[in-house]
Order: sequence, then structure tokens, then C-alpha cells
Amino acid sequence: MSSLNSFSLEESIAEAGSNIPNPIIQGDALDFRKKFNDSPFMFSHNLAEHPLFELPRLAQLASTLIGKEESLVMCKAGDFPINQKWSDRPHKLEQVAEVIENIETSNSWLLLQSTQLDPEYKALMEQVIAEAETLTEIPLRKEITWLEAFIFIASPHTTTPYHMDSEQNFIFQIHGEKEDNLFDRRDRSVLTESEIERFYIGDRECLSYQAENQSKANVYHLTPGMGIYHPVNDPHWVKNGSTYTVSMTVIFYMRSYDLRARVYQVNHFLRRLGLNPTPPGKSAWIDGIKIHGIGLFSKRNPSTKDEAIRSGINRVFSIKNWILAPLKAYKKMIRRSK
Ligand SMILES: [Fe+2]
Repeated sequence: MSSLNSFSLEESIAEAGSNIPNPIIQGDALDFRKKFNDSPFMFSHNLAEHPLFELPRLAQLASTLIGKEESLVMCKAGDFPINQKWSDRPHKLEQVAEVIENIETSNSWLLLQSTQLDPEYKALMEQVIAEAETLTEIPLRKEITWLEAFIFIASPHTTTPYHMDSEQNFIFQIHGEKEDNLFDRRDRSVLTESEIERFYIGDRECLSYQAENQSKANVYHLTPGMGIYHPVNDPHWVKNGSTYTVSMTVIFYMRSYDLRARVYQVNHFLRRLGLNPTPPGKSAWIDGIKIHGIGLFSKRNPSTKDEAIRSGINRVFSIKNWILAPLKAYKKMIRRSK
């Protein structure tokens, strides 16, 4: 196992702390104003090859995060197809530092979550949001209900499988190149209402890649110094180029989308009852009833990303299970007695 060079690492940290580019984002203000909350768009940035994203520093960050909570770091095998489910990829959490430092050959895919727990990465994340507020002319920090900075590290030719996210994000390509295949969430031949409803109920792997839909993807070629904005729910998959990649993703939930998630959650139940529920955005008063209904069970101060959009529906499930438990036990007893 290779070891970190602590002397050069300290130098790197000191340099990074005083060397955050200002601005980080060099974007077209018109894109930020017109396309934010709606469509993907690319922008330039000044984080390429920044010392905070050198492999020894990232290995140290991963070890720090694992020390705080093991689940903050996902380290998986990299040679899996687009339609692979996240949970089917073998874990390789042991020797994470070694995997990162040898990422060019270790055939791995890593996700470092909550990197803002390290003050230097937190400073980056907060500067990104402050700049995005200026560019979008939206007071984002008033509306954001969850904010986090992820870092993805992946070996050459690896794929991030087809999926969608419940958050919006700004992705900053730092090292290497990759192709980001994005689909329009509004195209019902790509993404159905039922799939969105299942996703918000908690089935994060409800999407299945359909090869016949590939021609509907918008493919964005990300190189160091380029970034892209992902709107909520646009399905996507990512293919790495011929060198390892590092990218930072600033993800965030906004209040309006948290409320919209509740409408999908209620619609999931209505659909299971055989009804054809009204999608969100069609009727303010129908949406309002659904939002208020789930809101009665939602946590006022969520402590996790999942709780921010699912605490209400998870409590509904708990109550349902609590009510049905005696009935299930009774049925089981009857079956045994026969
Ligand atoms: Fe994603």
C-alpha cells in the first residue's frame, strides 16, 4: 500500500486554502438566468488541476470522511454496463486511499459525499453557491433546504449507470474527460409519471436504461475547466474517457422541489388504487391538498438528505405497517393452525 507524502500534502493544503479562484465560475449569465431550473447548460470554471483535487489530497479526504462515517464514501468496481444497478456493483471500501492514488489502473469508481465536512471543500462549495446566486439572480440560499458537495473519482473507461437525481447540481470537471448523456425528464417516452412517483417513494433504482432511447440523449463532452448544470430528475448516464476523471458536484434541494416530491408520493398511492392521478403543476389546489397531507407527517428540521424529501412519506409507511402488523400476525397464526 502506498503512503501519503505528509510534507507535500501539508504544502498542498496550505496552498489551496489561500488559493481558491475568484470567481470559480465563468459562465454566461444569460444561460444561468434563462435555463436554471429548466434545462442543462455548460459553463467554464477555474478549478481544473486545483491542489484540492490532487490524488493524495483526495485520498486523505476519503480517509477523513470514512473516519467520520463509513457510508460517506462509496468505492465500487468500475467495469460495469450502463444498465447496472448501483447496489449490484461490488464494494471495494478497503484500502480506499490506495485505490484513489492508483485510480489510473485500479478500475474503480468512487463517490465522496459530504466533502464540505472538510473546511477547505466547504469554502469551495459556499463560494459556488454565492456565485450561482449572482448569476441566476435568485436568492438560492433562502430556498435551499439541503446543500452538499460530492467528489467523483473514476478510472478510465468506467461508467456511471443510468439514473436520475432528486437534487439539482453544478458539476465541475477537474481532471480527465467524460461524456454526460442527459435525457429530458419531460419526455414521457423516456421517463414516465409512474417512474418518478416510485423514485420519490424511495425506489432509487426504478429506472431501466432503454437502448432505443439513446438517440434522444443530449451528449455533453466534459473536459477539465468545463462544467454543466443538471436540473432535477433529468435521467443520465456518464462514460469516462481514456484517463482517470475527477469532478466536484455541488448538489442542492430547493423548497419548491421538496413540495413537488410530496405530490408524486401521494400520486404513487393513488395510482396503486387504480386511479390516474393529476401530475404536479396542473392544479394548484390539488397539489396543495397533497402537499399539506404529506406535510402533516414531515419533519420540520430534517437531519439527512433523504429526510428532506421522504420523512413524511416514511412516517406514513411506518404508521401503515404499525396498523397492519396485528392483521398480518393474525393471518399468519390462522395459516399455521390449519
Ligand atoms: Fe447523477
